[in-house]
Amino acid sequence: MNIGIDKIGFATSQYVLNMNDLACARGAEPEKFSIGLMLDALSITPISEDIVTLATTASHDILTEQDKADIDMVILATESGIDQSKAASVYVHSLLGIQSFARSFEIKEACYAATAALNYAKLHVSTNPDSKVLVVASDIAKYGIGSAGESTQGAGAVAMLVSSNPRILTFNDDNVAQTRDIMDFWRPNYSTTPYVNGIYSTKQYLDSLKTTWAEYQKRHQTDLKDFAAMCLHLPFPKLALKGLNKLITKNLPEQNKTQLLANFEHSIAYSRKVGNIYTGSLYLGLLSLLETSDTIKAGDKIGLFSYGSGAVSEIFSANLVEGYKAMLKPSRLLDLDKRSPLSVTEYEKLFYEEADLDEEGSATFNNYKTGSYRLKGIEQHQRIYIKNED
Ligand code: HMG
Repeated sequence: MNIGIDKIGFATSQYVLNMNDLACARGAEPEKFSIGLMLDALSITPISEDIVTLATTASHDILTEQDKADIDMVILATESGIDQSKAASVYVHSLLGIQSFARSFEIKEACYAATAALNYAKLHVSTNPDSKVLVVASDIAKYGIGSAGESTQGAGAVAMLVSSNPRILTFNDDNVAQTRDIMDFWRPNYSTTPYVNGIYSTKQYLDSLKTTWAEYQKRHQTDLKDFAAMCLHLPFPKLALKGLNKLITKNLPEQNKTQLLANFEHSIAYSRKVGNIYTGSLYLGLLSLLETSDTIKAGDKIGLFSYGSGAVSEIFSANLVEGYKAMLKPSRLLDLDKRSPLSVTEYEKLFYEEADLDEEGSATFNNYKTGSYRLKGIEQHQRIYIKNED
């Protein structure tokens, strides 16, 4: 049975911070961000936009009423959870109006979680061919004002509908995963921002890629020339480019190398303007490739490298399905240009605003711009979400 991604949606914030402005404010050369990290802008969320509103907006954009009747599982992958107990997917399930007899839960392992969710969805569909599973990767990456990671923040959600006979791509059963217990990036419960060993994390990312790729090649007797494109987790695009260059060996034919490098540029077009969206980053790269590359075609094999700090990594592949272009939205780059630019002072205030709860545990929030859904406030410690008027 063919199982894979039938639909993909994406949502990000309505506000944006230009990297040149951040460089200027932090006394860095603009080229450090534009060339050194390959980032042009970061998506910035206000307090009324969180992983639930982003996830619901991304899903709302792709789901029909029939999909909502067919979905029997909602998995939300995140590392910026809003509650230690209640899964964010339960809010998403309710806001979207998905039929009741569905299973909803949250899943975590840093930026790797969405890949685990897709695997779980695939297994579920393999024994329930008529079911559809909604997998949403939703995160807000906040490192702290003036921190080393500040230039690699971002926010967004990627929603993927997994089904049999998918219309975008089919998964191949070739996943190879690796776990290594390391402290490259982590966020204890008492901290709102992560602790990061930045340079160490980049080395671990690259070494996990190299060793997982070697094992993948050994198990599947395959070569880079079998792939039309490679999508790699994008904490910032330059690291993924370093990773791809490590996979390219001297005996790879020149035309394959040219194609892989050209498609890499397509895979980073969205992330350059959005920043790191943690567990959705790899899939934002995939979406960017599918929507901006003119050279890929049905039947092509795409490799994916997922990396989550801590660390778990996985390499797997998928094949494009005939007619996949019809399931996409080619105008997305123009949508990103519609976000409202923020000065650095505005960004610091907006991104780091905390709920000012009264003695009853309630707060209302300013009417900031959000996607289709909004966190209106908190009433007696309960988050209140509403749909914005169309
Ligand atoms: P930094 O101190 O801001 O930057 O740290 P740097 O000094 O390392 O410079 C960055 C690059 O800019 C370097 O390029 C410089 O040479 C270059 P490289 O040598 O590496 O190729 N540069 C310039 N280029 C052109 N013109 C100039 C110029 N100046 C400098 N004028 C760091 C960067 C990534 C460490 C920091 O941003 C950070 O800590 N980020 C957060 C951690 C991170 O993203 N790690 C990635 C791997 S871990 C991961 O992927 C998991 C993660 O997504 C979380 C999860 O799983 O949940 C993060």
